[in-house]
Amino acid sequence: MEHQRVFETGGRVPQEHIPLSQEKDTTMRHIELSPPSLDTAEKDALLRVIDDNWLAMGKRVRTLEEAFASLHGIGHGVALNSCTAALHLSLAAHGIGPGDEVLLPSLSFVATANAAIYVGARPVFVDVEDELVPHMSLALARQAITPRTRAIITMHYAGYLMDMRPWRELADEHNLVLIEDAAHAAGLEGAGRHSHASAFSFYSNKNMTTGEGGMLLVHDAELEARLRLMRSHGMTSTTITRDQGHAFGYDVVEAGFNYRLDELRAAIGLEQLARLAERNARRVELTGLYRRHLASVAGLGVPFSPAWTQCGHIMPVLLPEGADRLQTMMRLREQGVQSSVHYRPIHTFTQFAGTAADQPVLPMTEAFGRRTLTLPLHPGLSDDDVAYVVEALTNALG
Ligand SMILES: Cc1ncc(COP(=O)(O)O)c(C=O)c1O
Repeated sequence: MEHQRVFETGGRVPQEHIPLSQEKDTTMRHIELSPPSLDTAEKDALLRVIDDNWLAMGKRVRTLEEAFASLHGIGHGVALNSCTAALHLSLAAHGIGPGDEVLLPSLSFVATANAAIYVGARPVFVDVEDELVPHMSLALARQAITPRTRAIITMHYAGYLMDMRPWRELADEHNLVLIEDAAHAAGLEGAGRHSHASAFSFYSNKNMTTGEGGMLLVHDAELEARLRLMRSHGMTSTTITRDQGHAFGYDVVEAGFNYRLDELRAAIGLEQLARLAERNARRVELTGLYRRHLASVAGLGVPFSPAWTQCGHIMPVLLPEGADRLQTMMRLREQGVQSSVHYRPIHTFTQFAGTAADQPVLPMTEAFGRRTLTLPLHPGLSDDDVAYVVEALTNALG
């Protein structure tokens, strides 16, 4: 099959990203893909946690939940130790299970599909609209609905907002649970508004980070209460409430998980949240600058349009047809520029290959997956760095 040839693991396909050389040439500029933005605020916050002598889930986690939910204009936040956990719980709490089908994009990180596998459901991959709008296609999702379909997971690729209203209409029409994989969308205005649950990631390369971590936003207090139980072994009280003397015993009412966040991560998260709007604004500004410089690179495509609502998570481009991506990435590295691929489509991984008869037909996802390359984007880049990256890309494409 076409995608098997292209995405074979036999060396032609780059790994998630090509890191810069371990031994840095100090005379050359080095531009990393997406390092975290950290400073003394995070260091001081960590010291305060140590001084307080309470590391497990506590008051900072709660404060982070409230502040993050409020920033997105959504009623309830449940902090978790990853977005993967958030995706898992969002399906599990809605009773999605064996025999059910979950519609989701193949153009995503593998966690989106793994969440369906965890609950015993079947991920059904849906193609994207086209190469320049690599969001899951609403029309194709509608066609993929069967009597077994129970949920849809959409993903705001690269931090560009999907219009979720028609998705909610589709979900309501068919009585489906609508979940947003909002891993790329921290601080993105409108994310989470129209779905039943939205899952955010605080992984190290995200717009705000806690190292590992995540948040699930929901509109419904009952659902929030259930998620809190599921996050912590199905226990009816947490260590902190017991410790503070608010609860003397606890019951276990279901087989929950340990998906808790801790105070160290929450302390970092609160500092990151305080700077999120400012840093996202800089990311969006840098994206605009990239677009202006990239306009002069022949044959190159830049997904989405400049006016699209976004939070500047990553900077994917479409290499000119026929360009050798791995060679381009190597040549970028020689010039000190780290690059990556977001994403190799999930259905091309061995784990999801299934039988030949099962192979989904996703031509747009595969075309995008073949041509896409992610350039460095983070608030620490200077305007001049962006010009340098585009010059390096031009050289690399030779
Ligand atoms: C689109 C998408 N979904 C889910 C995840 C999983 O997030 P986490 O690493 O917080 O579990 C990621 C993280 O990279 C992601 O990019």
